[in-house]
Amino acid sequence: MNTSTHSIGDVTSCDHSQSWVYTDVVKDHFFHPRNFVQDEEEVNIFEGHGQYGSPACGDEMHVWIKVDPDSKRITDFKWRTFGCASAIAATSIASEIVLENGGMTIEEAKHLKPQTIIERLGGLPNRKIHCSVLCDKALLKAIEDYENR
Ligand code: FES
Repeated sequence: MNTSTHSIGDVTSCDHSQSWVYTDVVKDHFFHPRNFVQDEEEVNIFEGHGQYGSPACGDEMHVWIKVDPDSKRITDFKWRTFGCASAIAATSIASEIVLENGGMTIEEAKHLKPQTIIERLGGLPNRKIHCSVLCDKALLKAIEDYENR
């Protein structure tokens, strides 16, 4: 078996030029995604839906939000993607960030940065950074949809 220095990561790229190391937080959110939509029936009553695709890989992200009409806080955040492990982990943790402490306000959620998501994951491999922007872009579109209704 080849035990070259390129195999130290969990996944090694096919050209063996770069190892991809996923943190335990990424792995936890990938294997146990939070707020993932199992059945689209459950998001029928949500007030905002956003969809965003990554031209880099052809993947797609859907986000649904529920908003408290008085406080304008996001009280529920569900999502579904055809993206990779990094996209799944990034969106799972983003849903927790948005919902923690009673939920972000719409204005706070508009400023959720990919960097915050990546930091909470303990980092992502460089070539997977674009996967983390799928969820904040889809969230922005869901907020736009909510505001236009
Ligand atoms: Fe396409 Fe990560 S979402 S490579």
